[in-house]
Amino acid sequence: MRALVVFESIWGNTEEVARAVAAGLGGDRIDVVDTASAPAVIEPDVDLVVVGGPTHAFSMSTAATRESARKQGAERVPERGIREWIEAQPSPGHAIPVATFDTRVVTPRLPGSAAKKAMKRLVRLGFRAVAKPETFGVHGYSGPIADGELERARRWGEDLARQLPAG
Ligand SMILES: Cc1cc2nc3c(=O)[nH]c(=O)nc-3n(C[C@H](O)[C@H](O)[C@H](O)COP(=O)(O)O)c2cc1C
Repeated sequence: MRALVVFESIWGNTEEVARAVAAGLGGDRIDVVDTASAPAVIEPDVDLVVVGGPTHAFSMSTAATRESARKQGAERVPERGIREWIEAQPSPGHAIPVATFDTRVVTPRLPGSAAKKAMKRLVRLGFRAVAKPETFGVHGYSGPIADGELERARRWGEDLARQLPAG
């Protein structure tokens, strides 16, 4: 199985989740890339795309919410997030399987999910959903990741791999 895991992460929590998901996917053909280095066009032999980002203001981040993170002391703020990466994607030549996840604060539990919004757009583009959008909890805006969530992310990756014929 060849998989591409694209993540956006400001404080590193979503990146850690992305790497745990990739570990669960298994195999040596798993690329984990941030939105800055993610490919503009997905190669045709990719069997699964996983997209993950932080939930900002009930949705995917925007330039404004990322700027707000910077004002709150974040040092590693990406120029573009998963929203912009998805917006720049052409419709895939075939319905590439896709799964999405986000990170969100555990308390207070707020409505809205970057993963749901991302999935909606990817499906509209022509990707095929292979799992329900998933959420992983973090404590506060900068983390750390809540107990047990990395293990759950790894298992989610294992489940995704099983969805695919080659898995
Ligand atoms: C401007 C801004 C808005 C946010 N809005 C939400 C929100 O609506 N719901 C939520 O659960 N978390 C919200 N958060 C917290 C982020 O989800 C949290 O910072 C993120 O999961 C951490 O992941 P990262 O380390 O990969 O950036 C917000 C954070 C920022 C900076």
